[in-house]
Amino acid sequence: MRIKYTISVVFFVTLVIIEKENNIISRVSDKLTLKQTPQTPLHPSGSSHLLLKHNGSFTSLNKMDSAFTLMKRRLENYSEHQRLATRGKKHILLLATTRTGSSFVGEFFNQQGDNMFFLFEPLWHVEKMLTLETGGTNATASAKAYRDVLQKLFLCDFSLLESFIEPLPVDHITPNLFRRESSSSLCEESVCSPVVKGVFERYRCKTRRCGPLNLTMASESCLQKEHRAIKSVRVRQLENLRPLAEDPRLDVRFIQLVRDPRAVLASRMVAFAAKYKNWKQWAKDGDVPIDDDEVRKLKGNCDNIRMSAEIGLRQPAWLRRRYMLVRYEDIARFPMRKATEMYRFAGIPFTPQVKSWILKNTQASKETSGVYSTQKNSSEQVEKWRFSLPFKIAQVVQRVCGPTLKLFGYKFVSSEEMLMNKSISLIEDKVFNFF
Ligand SMILES: *[C@@H]1O[C@H](CO)[C@@H](O)[C@H](O)[C@H]1NC(C)=O
Ligand SMILES: *[C@@H]1O[C@H](CO)[C@@H](O)[C@H](O)[C@H]1NC(C)=O
Ligand SMILES: *[C@@H]1O[C@H](CO)[C@@H](O)[C@H](O)[C@H]1NC(C)=O
Ligand SMILES: *[C@@H]1O[C@H](CO)[C@@H](O)[C@H](O)[C@H]1NC(C)=O
Ligand SMILES: *[C@@H]1O[C@H](CO)[C@@H](O)[C@H](O)[C@H]1NC(C)=O
Ligand SMILES: *[C@@H]1O[C@H](CO)[C@@H](O)[C@H](O)[C@H]1NC(C)=O
Repeated sequence: MRIKYTISVVFFVTLVIIEKENNIISRVSDKLTLKQTPQTPLHPSGSSHLLLKHNGSFTSLNKMDSAFTLMKRRLENYSEHQRLATRGKKHILLLATTRTGSSFVGEFFNQQGDNMFFLFEPLWHVEKMLTLETGGTNATASAKAYRDVLQKLFLCDFSLLESFIEPLPVDHITPNLFRRESSSSLCEESVCSPVVKGVFERYRCKTRRCGPLNLTMASESCLQKEHRAIKSVRVRQLENLRPLAEDPRLDVRFIQLVRDPRAVLASRMVAFAAKYKNWKQWAKDGDVPIDDDEVRKLKGNCDNIRMSAEIGLRQPAWLRRRYMLVRYEDIARFPMRKATEMYRFAGIPFTPQVKSWILKNTQASKETSGVYSTQKNSSEQVEKWRFSLPFKIAQVVQRVCGPTLKLFGYKFVSSEEMLMNKSISLIEDKVFNFF
């Protein structure tokens, strides 16, 4: 965006100089004023007006030159301010969908230590309330609410999230924050208020006995932390989050976690049995009505994930160095290596706490290189779906999610034998990010 701005300034100044020769300056100046209004990242009420006389025309080239120099300097100052404003603070957003291992990967950041403020699915409250109020059918409204809440939370401001919590917190106190215990930041000593007799705490801390969550305390603790991370399975389109990437107060890193859609469906059929009862029936019958709503929904999900990844991998200016794609299958096979990569991408130190958590929770064993680890059993977990998902269903997924599978390097199966033959890997080696 900054680059674009420089270009447009140069372009218009050049234009003005050319046009001056033709004595139609004021018309061009009008254009300049118009074009500038929508993007005023510098000083909206300040200097850029120096460029123009009150009636919108330039008096002399000299004045214009100095105005241009001034603007250039301000532009440089702006970049400097932006760097200083975030002061090395990083804001990590882990984007995923359900059954892609996002809780596990979220722990990579939850375990970072004292420098990290981690939130686990805060958008749960937003989705719940929007579903209650409007059936959650307005995707535009949901996307906007998600974006705004995330933006505030990255700034340690819980006020907007509060408005979605049911019942509404009183004096910023709530016993109902979803999965509080999954954010070690919300169970620290400094965020742990005394236990209140008679208050039923729905989501308790595991590490210590705490009273209802005081969100003012949470906010204060958040402000003390160097880095912030949020995991969410609710954002549908990365593009909706562009204002976060462009917010000069934030230095956001998006990590998109994906998984083979065939495996995701197999896992959901087990985890959300009631919701996926149609799929289970089809699995039994061996027949899937391809124009069913459920199939369309599957396609919609795949398309959203793919489109987000396509934007991220294309690296437009607003996402440059801010996007990383990670496959669940790679994390399961090489947890330590992938965690190291994520931390390097995020630009924050990979702490011994994270390392030991990963070792403990993956039984990762050192490879001969001694640096990276693999996990035999989670590799096995990765393949389990191949024996539970009927070939017919796998075919349907391949049909509606084909481009998604291709983009992420998941091989198609052409027969039941191939699906169930473990010596045939369905995961292509693929490198997505070049930093
Ligand atoms: C605009 O300002 C210039 C210089 O101040 C002046 O010469 C010109 O007459 C003004 N034009 C109008 C339309 O007021
Ligand atoms: C840029 O910032 C410096 C100090 O940070 C200040 O002295 C200078 O006036 C600023 N320049 C402009 C054009 O704003
Ligand atoms: C959906 O939400 C947007 C943004 O809040 C609003 O402008 C639009 O009218 C809503 N659409 C419907 C169908 O309610
Ligand atoms: C919540 O925490 C804030 C900041 O520490 C404190 O001022 C406030 O009294 C606390 N609220 C309650 C009800 O304890
Ligand atoms: C993997 O799981 C099998 C049982 O499924 C167990 O016998 C084996 O010890 C495990 N291996 C590792 C490295 O944990
Ligand atoms: C599995 O695939 C391998 C490699 O293509 C092949 O050699 C083997 O015969 C297959 N096994 C079965 C049981 O089909």
